[in-house]
Formats: sequence, C-alpha cells, structure tokens
Amino acid sequence: MSNPSLLILPGDGIGPEVMTEVRRVIDWFGAKRGLAFDVTEDLVGGAAYDAHGTPLTDETMAKAQEADAVLLGAVGGPKYDELDFSVKPERGLLRLRKEMDLFANLRPAQCFDALADFSSLKRDVVAGLDIMIVRELTSGVYFGEPRGITPDNEGGRIGVNTQRYTTDEIRRVARAAFELARRRNNKVCSMEKANVMESGILWREEVQHVHDEEYPDVELSHMYADNGAMQLVRWPKQFDVIVTDNLFGDILSDCAAMLTGSLGMLPSASLGAPQENGRPKALYEPVHGSAPDIAGQGKANPIACVLSFAMALRYSFDQGAEADRLEAAVEKVLADGVRTADLMQAEGGSPVSTTGMGDAILAALDASL
Ligand code: NAD
Ligand code: IPM
Ligand code: MN
Repeated sequence: MSNPSLLILPGDGIGPEVMTEVRRVIDWFGAKRGLAFDVTEDLVGGAAYDAHGTPLTDETMAKAQEADAVLLGAVGGPKYDELDFSVKPERGLLRLRKEMDLFANLRPAQCFDALADFSSLKRDVVAGLDIMIVRELTSGVYFGEPRGITPDNEGGRIGVNTQRYTTDEIRRVARAAFELARRRNNKVCSMEKANVMESGILWREEVQHVHDEEYPDVELSHMYADNGAMQLVRWPKQFDVIVTDNLFGDILSDCAAMLTGSLGMLPSASLGAPQENGRPKALYEPVHGSAPDIAGQGKANPIACVLSFAMALRYSFDQGAEADRLEAAVEKVLADGVRTADLMQAEGGSPVSTTGMGDAILAALDASL
C-alpha cells in the first residue's frame, strides 16, 4: 500500500518558518515511528499570487482535493493590502475551505500547566482548561449573497455582506459538535444572536432539534455570542464544546487563544463529511495568521502548527497514540521552561528561536522512545 499523502502549503509570513519545524517533526515520525507520508509542497496565498497571479491555482486546488490531508501555515500580509479583493491571499484559503466543503472547524483551547501563569487571566481561571470551539466554516456571512460594494444614490457607497444559514448547514455542524462532546465531557453550548438575527433564531432552533432527536444524552445550553465572549474570559471552564457560526467562531477562537497564553499555541482541524474511505476531507492549520510584525526574524512560535499536525495524526490517520506522544513532547518542552518570545513575561529569561523550539520538541520526541 502507498503511504498516506500530505499536501503542505506553507503560505506567507511566518507560515514557512513554522512549517519548516513541522517538516522536521513529520520526518521524525517517518524515521523513528515508521509513519511515512508522501509529502508534496505547494504555494498558497501571497506566495501563489507572486508566482501565478492567483492565491490558489486550479492545480493546487485539485491536489488538495486528492490529498489525504492538507497542512497549511498562514496567508496574508501588508504586501498584499492593495490587491484586488478577488485575488487577496485570504481568498485562497477561503476557496480551499469552501471547495473541500470543510464545514466543521475544530479549534481546541487547552491551557498547558506550565503556561497557566502566563495567560493574561489569573491562574485559577485558566489552569486545566480544555475546551473545544466548533466553528462553522463554509457558510454564514463569509459566503452569503448578495455581497459587494456598490454606489448609493447620494454619491456615497454601500458595503453589503449577508448572513445566511440553511437547516442542513446548521444541523451538520451541530452533529459534529455533539459527536465530539460525547467523547469529552458531554456538554455543548451553542452561541448565536437569536435576539437580533433571524439566522440566529434558526440556528438555535435547529441545534435544539438535532439535540432532541439525536443527542438527548448530551447537555445542551444556548447563549448569546456577546455574553459568550464575556463568559469565556470570566470563567472559561464552564464550557466543554462550544458550537457557533463562521464569524462568531473566528472572533471567539482568537479570544480563547489568550486563555492558553498565546495565539502561537492554538491548532485547528477543518473537517468535511466522511468520504468513501471513511475519512473526512481535512485541512489542518494554526489559528494564527502570518504575523507580519515578527515575520523573517526567527521569533515565531511553531507550536500551533506542530499541534495542528498532531490533530492530523488523530483525525486523518488514526494515530491517536502518536498524536498523544507529540502533544506530550510539547507539554514537556514547556514544562522544561523552553519559551519562544510570545511566551515570555517582559521581565524574564531569554527566548529560543523558532528553530530552537523545533530542536527542543525533537529532543523531547527522542526522549519519549
Ligand atoms: P496574526 O495572527 O498574524 O497576528 C496577531 C498577533 O499575534 C501578532 O502580534 C503576531 O506577532 C502574534 N502571533 C501570531 N502568531 C504567532 C506565533 N506563531 N508566534 C508568535 N506570535 C504570533 O493576525 P493579524 O496580524 O491580524 O493578521 C496578519 C495577516 O494574517 C493578515 O493578512 C490576516 O488576514 C492573516 N491571517 C491569516 C490567517 C490564516 O492564514 N489562517 C489567520 C489569521 C490572520
Ligand atoms: C482564521 C483567519 C481567516 C478567517 C482569514 C485569514 C480568512 O482569521 O482562520 O481565523 O477569517 O477565517
Ligand atoms: Mn481568525
């Protein structure tokens, strides 16, 4: 049998820097654990625009559809700010999500004990935290029509985006959340703004329906998303799984990042429906962006991207034990006090570089054998 295929799209800014470290981790699993992948690398985002005039070529899109999993770094940056909207780097990522139909975006926020004092919140509030945000990823205001910028009648302009959800779109992401909850602490909190948006009313009713018909054993609550944002920083441990729409999920997951100490810590998995082979189409990527403020300086924290590969091991390749091994290696490195600059208090110690963090993770993997 051939090896599982992995398409790697490093992208822009710190994307290629953190992906270099992930490549070393992937090679380690090949050499030391007999887990070989057929790895192909390609361009996405600004890098693809520079080479081909588009943030994602049809050829790369086809490779992504064929791959057993896609691993993406990050896209975007100030260099591309003035580009036409249709060819902006971010459009490449959105096309991948939409055409692969990756409707369930899993964004776990876990506070490693070694970082509990580093969060901007008190240790008490974050220590032991382990929540999962399930963000709907292929619909809502990101994709709804009509959209655009048009002139109005008074010499001004109108910017339009449309929040739109169908029954099926809500039900399938709700099922993903309930399934995850059953394997965790059996609680789902659904967030919308049913008090001001019809799409929010539909969201709440459909999530409740899926619960009552298919998952009555899971504890379900509903919360307005603005209150949800407040509750996330007040007492995040009240949550287990949060399910929410595309835009609220984007914002709430950046917010949850600070519970873990840094945006450089948060991985994600974007999953579609199971295919004939039983596996979902899947794209794994850190939650953070291309971080233009630190790009090219060797300062980026590669952990979010490394943990995204751990999610690939778990969700695409049935290698839960190896994913545990990688996560434990990251935990050990943090417990040993190894820190990139984003994980340092202003007053203390000297940070390691992106490569230094990669070295430490590889050493911890070696020590795990
Ligand atoms: P960002 O996530 O790139 O950066 C926000 C802040 O977090 C910056 O101060 C950055 O230095 C820091 N940070 C992020 N990742 C880090 C890491 N791994 N290690 C250390 N520090 C890290 O968000 P932004 O600045 O709002 O966006 C920059 C560009 O990235 C934009 O073009 C945006 O559209 C794009 N973006 C892409 C993705 C993606 O590819 N999935 C996600 C978010 C933003
Ligand atoms: C994310 C990013 C993306 C989003 C952008 C870059 C398209 O912020 O993955 O969180 O808004 O979904
Ligand atoms: Mn985001």
